[in-house]
Amino acid sequence: MNWAITRYNLYAPHYDRWIALTPHRRRSIELARLQPGERVLISGCGTGLDLPLLPPGLSIDAVDLSPGMLAQAAPRAARCGARLQTMNAQHLDFPSASFDCVFLHLIVAIVPDPLQCLREAARVLKLGGRVMLFDKYYDGPGRPRLVRRALNPLFRFLVTDLNTPTLRLAAEAGLHAVHEEPAFLRGMFRIARLEP
Ligand SMILES: C[S@@+](CC[C@H](N)C(=O)[O-])C[C@H]1O[C@@H](n2cnc3c(N)ncnc32)[C@H](O)[C@@H]1O
Repeated sequence: MNWAITRYNLYAPHYDRWIALTPHRRRSIELARLQPGERVLISGCGTGLDLPLLPPGLSIDAVDLSPGMLAQAAPRAARCGARLQTMNAQHLDFPSASFDCVFLHLIVAIVPDPLQCLREAARVLKLGGRVMLFDKYYDGPGRPRLVRRALNPLFRFLVTDLNTPTLRLAAEAGLHAVHEEPAFLRGMFRIARLEP
């Protein structure tokens, strides 16, 4: 198992204490404007912190590659009837056009190939669907500040890339931001609604 997954097995028992970020998850879910009966995918679901915040009446799939994180997510998934699977967000084992909404919360900046992760989200999206992004990313203008560049190697090793140009990559994957707003840490974390 590679370090990208091993580290989350190690973090899993403590994750919820560090990364609740509940108001921002709620805001992303609000912007998704989910309708009863819609099919939803949470890609890289972690411990399932989004699951109890989703409205009732949805059909939910949630996937992750870390057994430790999935074990934490299991009780939350059981409570809302979500299907939990071990799956790579960069190679989703779902047919194209399966979901009305895909949540990419704190995952794109973590995977080795963010563009492929976004392409997969776009592929499994139904016509008229949307992708909800909540993450840290940097799309300019210019280069990230020196401190952000200097800290990035350590952050990337331990947790996450700070400077992924996610909106540019999303556009390359055919997903365009129809709404974007700052969320946390003076806008380092942002929320975007992406549509094909
Ligand atoms: C920062 S956590 C975010 C978890 C959750 N989305 C949240 O908002 O709390 C990143 C998650 O991505 C998972 N992950 C890393 N690489 C992955 C991959 N290639 N496919 C699926 N999940 C992956 C990790 O196991 C971890 O649970």
